[in-house]
Amino acid sequence: MKRTKYLFLSAILVLAVGCSPKKAGTIGADASVESRVEALLSQMTLAEKIGQMNQVSAGGDVAGYAEAVRKGQVGSILNEVDPVKLNEFQRLAVEESRLGIPILVGRDVIHGFHTVFPIPLGLAATFDPALVECGARIAALEATSQGVRWTFSPMLDIARDPRWGRIAEGSGEDTYLDSRMAVAMVRGYQGTELDSTSMAACVKHFVGYGAAEGGRDYNSTFLTERQLRNIYLPPFEAAIKAGAMTLMTSFNDNDGVPSTGNAFVLKQVLRDEWGFDGLVVTDWNSMGEMINHGFGEDRKDVAEKAVNAGVDMDMMTFGFLSHLEELVKSGAVKESTIDNAVRNILRVKILLGLFENPYVDVEAAKAVQYAPEHLAAAQKTAEESAILLKNDGILPLRGKGRILVTGPLADAPYEQLGTWAFDGQKEHSVTPLKALQERFPGQVNFVPGLMYSREKRQNFNDVVAAARAADVVLAFLGEEAILSGEAHSLADLNLMGSQSDLLAALKATGKPVVAVIMAGRPLTIERDLPNVDALLYSFHPGTMGGPALANLLTGEANPSGKTPVTFLRTVGQAPLYYNHNMTGRPYNGETLLEDIEEGAAQTSLGNTSYYLDYGAYPLFPFGFGLSYTTFAYSQPSLDKTEYGVNDKIKISFTLSNAGKYKGTEVAQVYVRDLVGSLTRPVKELKYFERVELNPGESRDLTFELPVSDLAFFGLDGEKKVEAGAFHLWVAGNSNTGEPVHFSVK
Ligand code: NOJ
Repeated sequence: MKRTKYLFLSAILVLAVGCSPKKAGTIGADASVESRVEALLSQMTLAEKIGQMNQVSAGGDVAGYAEAVRKGQVGSILNEVDPVKLNEFQRLAVEESRLGIPILVGRDVIHGFHTVFPIPLGLAATFDPALVECGARIAALEATSQGVRWTFSPMLDIARDPRWGRIAEGSGEDTYLDSRMAVAMVRGYQGTELDSTSMAACVKHFVGYGAAEGGRDYNSTFLTERQLRNIYLPPFEAAIKAGAMTLMTSFNDNDGVPSTGNAFVLKQVLRDEWGFDGLVVTDWNSMGEMINHGFGEDRKDVAEKAVNAGVDMDMMTFGFLSHLEELVKSGAVKESTIDNAVRNILRVKILLGLFENPYVDVEAAKAVQYAPEHLAAAQKTAEESAILLKNDGILPLRGKGRILVTGPLADAPYEQLGTWAFDGQKEHSVTPLKALQERFPGQVNFVPGLMYSREKRQNFNDVVAAARAADVVLAFLGEEAILSGEAHSLADLNLMGSQSDLLAALKATGKPVVAVIMAGRPLTIERDLPNVDALLYSFHPGTMGGPALANLLTGEANPSGKTPVTFLRTVGQAPLYYNHNMTGRPYNGETLLEDIEEGAAQTSLGNTSYYLDYGAYPLFPFGFGLSYTTFAYSQPSLDKTEYGVNDKIKISFTLSNAGKYKGTEVAQVYVRDLVGSLTRPVKELKYFERVELNPGESRDLTFELPVSDLAFFGLDGEKKVEAGAFHLWVAGNSNTGEPVHFSVK
């Protein structure tokens, strides 16, 4: 937290020795970009500058916005993807506005553009950053070909409460996993070199938005600076170090300060400490919502607060357009503040090459959408994202028996795309039913049972009769796409409608029942587990969900997904996450309600931190996921017992495939810092790697963990590794394995 002091010091040194380092800023602008920015800025009127800071949702309405574009009042548009219209918008800006500054076109390309990949929570379940990067690249190729050069993704909000609908849009509960996914997505969207296929990433929502009270979207958060720095901010920092060009403020107020007016995070942390030189945009009307928060009187007041806190671009409040000029004239906002904001915007436009290439080739764009290699990547990603939660030996399906396919998600081309799939067209979705019918011609009987996930039904006579006539039942259940995502929080996380009744009726037939759940969050499925012989959990899998799931069910692919979020036994356990702090009375599994005798004497002695009725263990821990094969870990050994802060820990172990199928295991490294200046988490994920092994194969592996990765912001507010003893696990999930010990001196 004292880094500003050092930054200031190094700035003085640079001036004193008279040489400024030639290093490009965080988003890659070098001196030539900066001089173009300055040249343009020097020609701009105050009104033109403010125009650049204005973003409008122009969906469809070229004529309606033409005059504003000509006047230079539109720096950016969102919600238009038609390449013909986008070319026309650019023509108006480039050829008919005074300075010819192109428009930055933004869109929520969240998990694919036309080819839809699994929802981000599913992407995280792959634990495969390279594949996720590839998916983001494909999204960029498709979207940029139509003129979209900016995506409002990745969402990096840590989410520890599955009631929050937007848990679907992020990487789950873990800071390290989120950071790895953040870097992968930024690289994929923007490309390793910026060119005409680069789509600027926008890391969001800055910051703490996922910690909304009670999981109610848009609600307040109360995160301390230490929680922000140790848990919520690192994924943003990682993304910015990876070159993310833009950032979006969040809707929530944290400890009373709405993010869009929070100079501490937007200036001190983002600009001064991290050196970010990209563009900061508000969320949709989040500036205007500061009036609802009671943080500003009117639009003028909140415009002043937002711009002075470090916001560069206003998404849909129109507070900058209407009031910045008078605020500058009155002295409430300095013109230098406006200049800096405009620099940040122009820098992105120049780096994206928009001045050179504002237009797209409408015909060429068509060939890019749904290209076969895009569909193949989407299918592979969907395969890797599914998590096998239970298998009593029924999977993979063998033999060619009669298959009953049932359930509301079996043939739901729109629902399998999940939340925020604006541009994915359901006509291109391949459903599980379609894929299975192709795979097993003549053997599949389809009786939906329920037409949609919320439907209630009294009896399942038709499905039960069909199940009796089948050899195996495949039930596709879950949530419709609309039940998760923004503004779609839930207080009850059980399967909706009569889906659990359907499973119970199927189970009663005595036939083997396999459930496949497609959802936007980890649902509370404890009551359903006894009614299934196997359960494959697929967060909404996207366009190619059907073939991916068919491959997994038949064993052509072996499940390798691991859960990026804790599965609760009941919603009342929320929030429950693996890396909670060590408490004074850690739960040890004892004394549940049924153990308490009637009239028992009152005492708190010997009790721990838990719920009498549900304990404190989850249904499935973070990092959990089965395979058709079994993996065995040797006890890891370390190259030393004591390390210095600049050392690397060499962790050696043997991973064996002890089963009959080729499979991939996500080997996970967890660490506990035993004693700190602050209470530390019981465990923290520090590294993972996917390892593919043939049946019977054993591999000796060595992972390297820099000791510096154990640093955290401690009691004195400094980020450092604290000397002392540590435990380290290498395991297949966050709740297994025996630790090895080491210390840091
Ligand atoms: C509101 C959402 O919170 C944000 O994530 C999204 O990017 C914007 N709307 C634009 O659609």
